[in-house]
Amino acid sequence: MKAVVYTEYGSPDVLHVKEIEKPAPEANEILIRVYANSVNIGDVMARDFGSITPSKFTMPTIFWLPARITFGFNKPKKQILGNEFAGEVTEVGKDVRRFKVGDPVFGYRGMNMGANAEYICVPENSLVAIKPANMSYEEAATISGGTMTALNLLRKVDIQRGQKVLINGASGTIGSAAVQLAKHYGAEVTGVCSTPGMERVKALGADKVIDYTKEDFTRNGETYDLIFDIMGKSSFARLKNSLKPNGRYLLASFKMKQLFQMLVTSRTGVGGKKVICALSSENLEDLLLVKELVEAGTIKSIIDRCYPLEQAADAHRYYESGLKKGYVVLTFEHNHKALA
Ligand SMILES: NC(=O)c1ccc[n+]([C@@H]2O[C@H](COP(=O)([O-])OP(=O)(O)OC[C@H]3O[C@@H](n4cnc5c(N)ncnc54)[C@H](OP(=O)(O)O)[C@@H]3O)[C@@H](O)[C@H]2O)c1
Repeated sequence: MKAVVYTEYGSPDVLHVKEIEKPAPEANEILIRVYANSVNIGDVMARDFGSITPSKFTMPTIFWLPARITFGFNKPKKQILGNEFAGEVTEVGKDVRRFKVGDPVFGYRGMNMGANAEYICVPENSLVAIKPANMSYEEAATISGGTMTALNLLRKVDIQRGQKVLINGASGTIGSAAVQLAKHYGAEVTGVCSTPGMERVKALGADKVIDYTKEDFTRNGETYDLIFDIMGKSSFARLKNSLKPNGRYLLASFKMKQLFQMLVTSRTGVGGKKVICALSSENLEDLLLVKELVEAGTIKSIIDRCYPLEQAADAHRYYESGLKKGYVVLTFEHNHKALA
């Protein structure tokens, strides 16, 4: 079978399509014929982990070392990228109960990666579920990781109907799910991103979109109950005046400094305003909830470009170009037509 393999860290040029052995499922595993993968920040960071120093790493340095050891210190241990996938079950192990041959599925591999391949084996109780009926394989391959993370992190702040919420990084994987979830919870939502992502964020339902290359949201006089900063690009000092009394600053990417601010503000806050750093822990219940939310029309996927497996390097280049207007997807030859 074909897979996108990389044996050294670096630019998209390190990605090569190779023939490798097709895996066989263990008793508790299913074999999936993969039809689509998303290309996302996890893939791009893992591909170039050699150049990610502790200061470039978007989480506390104490997380950098274990991540570097997991992925491989000088060269990648896991030589196949791909954390989100959609495809069809082609074989089941003898103990498998949740799935049968022919089931359309989608799922998330997280740091296990390995989905940039024509076939993958996953345990039936891992993060894999029947694909949302109203999504193509391409769309279903883009929504698991970001939506589960946004669900997990937004649970820490319990958004109330009518609250004003700002999502800084609204056009990305977590941000686009957060925009849709915050609308679903009844908030008035402002999304912040750069020019290419603005139409997408509007299409996802944001009431207002701010282009961070043209306007600094901390200086326009607006105030919010919640500011969700996906990449940790702002700071508590800068945006404190943009929070309402008792407003919260939630970070998906943070360093020790923000953890310290969380500790300091945890009891009474600063003028009631609190910093919250949170880690998501994805689980099967949340993946099943993602499927429900998609089928209810709450979560949708806006795809910009699909690339065949052979053009994985081009897909990574486009992802990194700063021009993308939606998800970037790797596709595998299959007979299923996109639904969209
Ligand atoms: N806490 C957790 O448990 C957890 C879990 C998973 C991931 N993460 C973290 O989440 C981050 C990845 O998020 P993602 O997958 O959503 O990334 P992504 O898809 O790359 O999206 C990044 C977003 O940030 C925006 N952005 C970039 N520069 C910005 C700036 N200066 N000001 C405002 N927005 C800016 C981008 O907008 P443009 O594209 O328009 O520039 C885009 O909307 C990583 O740092 C990762 O460590 C945390």
